[in-house]
Amino acid sequence: MGVIPAFVARMEKKVSTNIYLVAYYSRQYREVILNEVSLAGINSRDLVLNIGCGGIPYTALSIASYTGARVCAIDRDEEAIRAAHRCIKSLKMGDKVTALAGDGSDNLPVKFDVAIVALQAEPKKEVLENLIMQSKPGARLIFRSPRHKSLNQYDSLPVAPVPSAKINQNKTTFNYSVLYEVPLNGPKCQNLGQITSVCS
Ligand SMILES: C[S@@+](CC[C@H](N)C(=O)[O-])C[C@H]1O[C@@H](n2cnc3c(N)ncnc32)[C@H](O)[C@@H]1O
Repeated sequence: MGVIPAFVARMEKKVSTNIYLVAYYSRQYREVILNEVSLAGINSRDLVLNIGCGGIPYTALSIASYTGARVCAIDRDEEAIRAAHRCIKSLKMGDKVTALAGDGSDNLPVKFDVAIVALQAEPKKEVLENLIMQSKPGARLIFRSPRHKSLNQYDSLPVAPVPSAKINQNKTTFNYSVLYEVPLNGPKCQNLGQITSVCS
C-alpha cells in the first residue's frame, strides 16, 4: 500500500466517531458520489456492496442517504470495520448501512445489484474478476480510476475488460469513475473482454 492510502486508512480509524469531521470528510466526496449514483442509476430498490469502506464509510453512508438504498460495506481490515461500526452507530444509520469484515477478492457476503469499490482497493484486477464471477445478471460495478501521477500510490484498473461508461471526477488522486455492466444473460465472455476465467 502507498504512503497516502496508508495514512488515510489510519486517520479514518482515529476520527470515525467525530461526527463533525465525518460530515466535513463526506462533503468533500458529495459530487463524486452523486456522479456515481447517476452513472450506475442507483435507486432505493438496489442492494449496494461497498468494497473498502474504511473507518469512515462515507461512500456507503452517502449512497444510503442520497438514494435510500441498503448498503453492505466491507473492509479486509478488522480494525477499520470496528471503527466503521462506531461511525454508523453514532450517525444512527444502522438500519441502512451494515459493515462486515471481508475481502473484495474473496467470498462476498451479499448478492448485490451494484458494487462500488474504493480507490485504495487492491488488487483491482482480482477484485473486478471476483465481482463479475459473483454478480447477479444485470449487476453494475463502479471503480475509481487513479490519475496517472497517483499510480505509485493506487493500483490501476486492468486494461480489460473495457468499462461500458465513465464519468469525470475532479479529485487530486482520481479523474474518473468507471462502470462495468454484467449482461442480463450472466457474466458471458463476449461482453467482458479478456476475463476468460469467469466464462461459464
Ligand atoms: C481508507 S479506506 C477509504 C474508503 C472510504 N472510507 C470510502 O468510504 O470510500 C480504503 C480501505 O480499503 C480497504 N481495502 C483495500 N483493498 C481491499 C480489498 N481487496 N477488500 C476489502 N477492503 C480493501 C483498506 O483496508 C482500507 O481500509
